[in-house]
Amino acid sequence: MPRVLTGKRIVVGVTGGIAAYKVPEFVRRLLQAGAIVDVVMTPAATDFVGPLTFQALTRRPVQVTTVGAWQGEHAGHVTLGAEADLMVVAPATADALARLAHGLADDAVTLTALACPAPLVVAPAMDHHMFRHPATQANLELLRSRGVTVVGPHHGPLASGMVGEGRMAEPEELVGAVRAVLGRSGSLRERRVVVTAGPTREPLDPVRFLSNHSSGKMGYALAEVARDRGATTTLISGPTCLPTPYGVRRIDVETAAEMARAVATETTDAEVLVMCAAVADFRPRAPSPEKIKKQAASLVLELEPTEDILASVRRPGLVKVGFAAETERFLEHALEKLQRKGLDLLVLNDARATMGADTAQVTLLRPGAPPEPLPELPKDEVAERIWDAIEALLAVRKTGEAR
Ligand code: CTP
Repeated sequence: MPRVLTGKRIVVGVTGGIAAYKVPEFVRRLLQAGAIVDVVMTPAATDFVGPLTFQALTRRPVQVTTVGAWQGEHAGHVTLGAEADLMVVAPATADALARLAHGLADDAVTLTALACPAPLVVAPAMDHHMFRHPATQANLELLRSRGVTVVGPHHGPLASGMVGEGRMAEPEELVGAVRAVLGRSGSLRERRVVVTAGPTREPLDPVRFLSNHSSGKMGYALAEVARDRGATTTLISGPTCLPTPYGVRRIDVETAAEMARAVATETTDAEVLVMCAAVADFRPRAPSPEKIKKQAASLVLELEPTEDILASVRRPGLVKVGFAAETERFLEHALEKLQRKGLDLLVLNDARATMGADTAQVTLLRPGAPPEPLPELPKDEVAERIWDAIEALLAVRKTGEAR
């Protein structure tokens, strides 16, 4: 459960577009992450999704009319907006964007938004001609200039049957945007961090490669939590099936050599490097330019070592965090890596149990300190604990510099 959402009051305003069908899933994800969600709707939105759906999910009254706002638990939309940590309008139709941009307040959604001093996130969804229309673009510009976060829309098939720009962002991306906006002034604001994730692929020939089982989940969770805490986050990723976390700059690489180059470039002005990627230690010495044929009775591959990225980054002041995925003699191997690679923190885990799983049991190792085993936790909570440990290192470093 991402901590940045826990206990946060989010108001979700739904306006009348077909993309409203995605909003219950978005609300469900916010609730699962521990947020308190109130839904307000325009009457047109109720033609697409019933208020009862949201009421059942949130277990809170859903406001559809401005008059209805004065009933139920809240003393009106003014209170709902005033108490919110963030408001999201999804889908935001062209009409809703125009109303929001110009401060109209004649429906439950725009009224709540006008009375809400908290950050506003909008997820436009409409036909692509409507989206491209100068009036809509001007309204979006006006909203952006007031600090509103606009998520999407994306290119793809639209309800009109056409293909174009106008599809609402998916729930996952919207949750990412909410987390990013809530975390803007978090404990890592103004810090630049680099996280690597996933496997590398070392080509054998144009169609084959050597790789490993890393899914990238742990590295992506680490990048998301850094972003949740306000860090400017770069994610250097080997091939994975995971979507780019909202607000994170992702650089795709394939081989260990490409990852080494990207890490060298990206860490020049970073304060933290978290090397979570499962980098190949060896690569074929001479990859075949053509597909290797199976005529031979056997095939011997000659491998050569890749560069040890973590060990070779030696910039003073950079906090270096490594992972040790072991299968035996865990502490012995990990302590040796901590020392050999000059690390500030090493995250030890059992390679067999962790790769591809949604949970991890890790032990944190720091030079000169006793090992700190953590219980088995979901990877996003492991990521929170790792950043807690990194922040403690950054704080010590700052005190040291001040002296
Ligand atoms: N790593 C790296 N470059 C490599 C190999 C590993 O930067 N060529 C990093 C990993 O991202 C990880 C740490 O080093 O943070 C330890 O990786 P691991 O594979 O456990 O250790 P190795 O050094 O490869 O040692 P071994 O394979 O012998 O266990």
